[in-house]
Amino acid sequence: MPAISACAPGKAILFGEHAVVYGRPAIAAPVTQVQVKATVLADPLGPQGRVHIQAPEIQLDCDLANLTEDDPIALAIQGVKTALAADHLPALHLRISSSIPVAAGLGSGAAVSVAILRALSAFLGQPLPNETVSALAFEVEKKHHGTPSGIDNTVVTYARPIYFVRGQPFEMLQPAEAFTLIIADSGVKSPTHTAVSAVRQAWQADPDRFEALFDAIGQISQQARQIITQGPVMALGPLMSENQRLLTQVGVSSAELDFLVETALQAGAAGAKLSGAGRGGNMIALADAENAAKIAAALQNAGAKRVIISSVNPVLSDYKK
Ligand code: MEV
Repeated sequence: MPAISACAPGKAILFGEHAVVYGRPAIAAPVTQVQVKATVLADPLGPQGRVHIQAPEIQLDCDLANLTEDDPIALAIQGVKTALAADHLPALHLRISSSIPVAAGLGSGAAVSVAILRALSAFLGQPLPNETVSALAFEVEKKHHGTPSGIDNTVVTYARPIYFVRGQPFEMLQPAEAFTLIIADSGVKSPTHTAVSAVRQAWQADPDRFEALFDAIGQISQQARQIITQGPVMALGPLMSENQRLLTQVGVSSAELDFLVETALQAGAAGAKLSGAGRGGNMIALADAENAAKIAAALQNAGAKRVIISSVNPVLSDYKK
């Protein structure tokens, strides 16, 4: 049996993180410069049911039987078994390689799940449709993030810019014109569930204040959706900066993120904000394509651990596995 591989991209939240957990709209786009690749191949010598897993980026080299039941990789494999009503797996190797930094707001967790779900179901001869892949990846997210909105698994599965409201059908966005984002990593690891539960505690302590902040962020997402689909896209800049100001009040920015946001603006970005759960991880800046390299260099000089120049395009072909 030939080896079967599948990929899933990273993602950036453009507007509405955290508020989306509380029912407000958010906008996200795929980041295809980084990705997870899962490869499944038969192990003709292994005993039935032995699944050997290698994931060098997280120093994992063990059998599935050695993972805890709530390990995200084990959960994704179990998700495929349940969806395909497969009681047993043949002996196989699962290799997972990733260029998406972990705990950095770029959707690494969702991408690992999506790549495994696709590769393993295809290997078993029944590739799962996107709808099922996204739903199963959401189940994995729930075990790990407590109250995920579902935006990460959706954008990573469909690999298109999306407008997302929790619990509602999402909308694929067709940008009126391409725009360039510079994505810079503060280098500070920040697991999503920690930031999400800190915001929950703060919301419980002062619901009126936080509901008002989430309302204001939701309104920004609505305005951004109109600008993305009708242009001019550079008008997104002030909205990004306003979203960043509100996220600071939500309590999820950090000194490192503030410094990178300020650096990008000083270097000529039209707007900048943290992206994802915050308290570390990545920030994004909007720039003219001509200015992007200059802003990227400024961010690098300011200490960003990794800088990606990414574009959100009007017509994106479906993400190739
Ligand atoms: C994480 O990428 C985005 C958050 O809004 C959490 C979520 O939506 O599940 C912080």
